[in-house]
Amino acid sequence: MILYFSGTGNSRFIAEGLNKICDDELINLKDLMKNGGTGELHSDKPFVFVLPIHAFRIPGKISEFIETIKFTGSSDAYFIVDCGGSPGNALKYIKNTCKKVNLQLKGFDAINMPASYIVMYNPPDVNSEAVHDSLVYQKSQIERIGRDINEGKEFFNRPSDFKGKIQSSILNPIFVKMMIKTKDFAVSDKCVKCGSCVLRCPLNNVFFNGKPEWGDNCMHCMACLSGCPSNAIEYGNKTVGRNRYYLLKHYGDVN
Ligand SMILES: Cc1cc2nc3c(=O)[nH]c(=O)nc-3n(C[C@H](O)[C@H](O)[C@H](O)COP(=O)(O)O)c2cc1C
Ligand code: SF4
Ligand code: SF4
Repeated sequence: MILYFSGTGNSRFIAEGLNKICDDELINLKDLMKNGGTGELHSDKPFVFVLPIHAFRIPGKISEFIETIKFTGSSDAYFIVDCGGSPGNALKYIKNTCKKVNLQLKGFDAINMPASYIVMYNPPDVNSEAVHDSLVYQKSQIERIGRDINEGKEFFNRPSDFKGKIQSSILNPIFVKMMIKTKDFAVSDKCVKCGSCVLRCPLNNVFFNGKPEWGDNCMHCMACLSGCPSNAIEYGNKTVGRNRYYLLKHYGDVN
């Protein structure tokens, strides 16, 4: 079973690729989260998690959610993360999560994807040649990982250095406390009231009150802001004029 969470489409793209190679069941964790969770998930094949890196770990809200699930059938797990450049020492925290849900971690890898955190920098144009070339290159990495999973191999790639350990242990909690706020989300008159932002939020944190409004339960996945088809959502003045990176292309469409 391949379980993914994706704010801006990168992890979904990787999960689709792994699923093509592993010929397995593809589950979007967002749907489970939105619907209040699932008691138990059964798979006779390994559980393969595909998740973005947020502040040098997998998002806390996602690991908390995974820890509510009872996994039955296979006890093997693979974690494939994707990031703009550095996964830090995410592996250490993934091992803790696996222990809590009685899964045996058999593999870890990190794939570099176009960095999409619009609040911190200007992401690349999703339709650019550079993004296309990056996706084509990463398809070969995804195929390699998929083959290794199919063969039941153990692999632990992208080991952390000292800097990564500091990033994940010290910077992550500071980031979560200081950066993950919602008061700066605002909607402009470009909003066509389509409601997509409400549907996209995994935490049901966007409410429609004549126009979208944000509660406090957020992980800054950027699904609402970057996925808005009218580019009507801003985060203070940080996102003004920046590219909305929201990958809609499917794995099979990129050659
Ligand atoms: C809140 C947040 C924090 C992020 N922190 C990191 C990070 O620590 N290291 C990194 O390389 N990329 C970081 N990124 C970039 C994402 O990991 C990258 O864009 C990822 O591919 C997004 O996956 P998704 O499109 O499936 O959501 C961050 C993105 C977000 C939204
Ligand atoms: S997704 Fe954009 S256009 Fe649609 S309701 Fe939300 S803010 Fe408005
Ligand atoms: S409010 Fe937006 S950024 Fe926050 S969790 Fe929901 S979709 Fe993600």
